[in-house]
Amino acid sequence: MPDVLITENEIEARVVELAREIDDDYATSDELILVGVLKGSFIFLADLARRLKVTHRVEFIAVSSYGESEDTTHSGAVRLLMDVRLDVSGKDVLIVEDIVDSGTTLEYLYRVLKARAPRSLKTATLLRKPDRLQVEVEVNYLGFDIPDVWVVGYGLDWAERYRTLPYIGKIDPGG
Ligand code: IMP
Ligand code: MG
Repeated sequence: MPDVLITENEIEARVVELAREIDDDYATSDELILVGVLKGSFIFLADLARRLKVTHRVEFIAVSSYGESEDTTHSGAVRLLMDVRLDVSGKDVLIVEDIVDSGTTLEYLYRVLKARAPRSLKTATLLRKPDRLQVEVEVNYLGFDIPDVWVVGYGLDWAERYRTLPYIGKIDPGG
């Protein structure tokens, strides 16, 4: 099993804090839409959303990066696999991500949703690897900054494995 990087209790405590911040910031909003990025954010989104007191709706969006496929010529490019169902124009939209690595995915999603004229657009991510950032992207709600290691659990995978570990663990993908 992967070594523990962030415990279940540490995650829970941080999620509670983030939910409080979001509740405060959106207290006057009656049009908050959480947009979870599949698949990695599904557990973070579920826990965060259930802690929120502010009324909100939940949507999902799915992307894949060409870097994950054989097509190395497009590495870093992002493709929309599944769109949200709601019209987000005039709404308060909060993108909920699992992890910001190079920043490419979140920056892409920010651009796609921004083009639909939401009333406001912000970002939340459980994890971020500051040493890996290549693209400028603002994170409004951050769980944890982590070192440049491959992490799994709490929604995050390695080749689709370990998503349902209750903690954030680290693995060595090479060995
Ligand atoms: P970015 O576009 O480079 O920021 O990559 C973000 C995406 O890469 C995330 O949404 C994850 O799907 C995946 N990813 C990056 N680092 C990790 C990791 O350490 N574990 C699992 N998935 C990761
Ligand atoms: Mg992701």
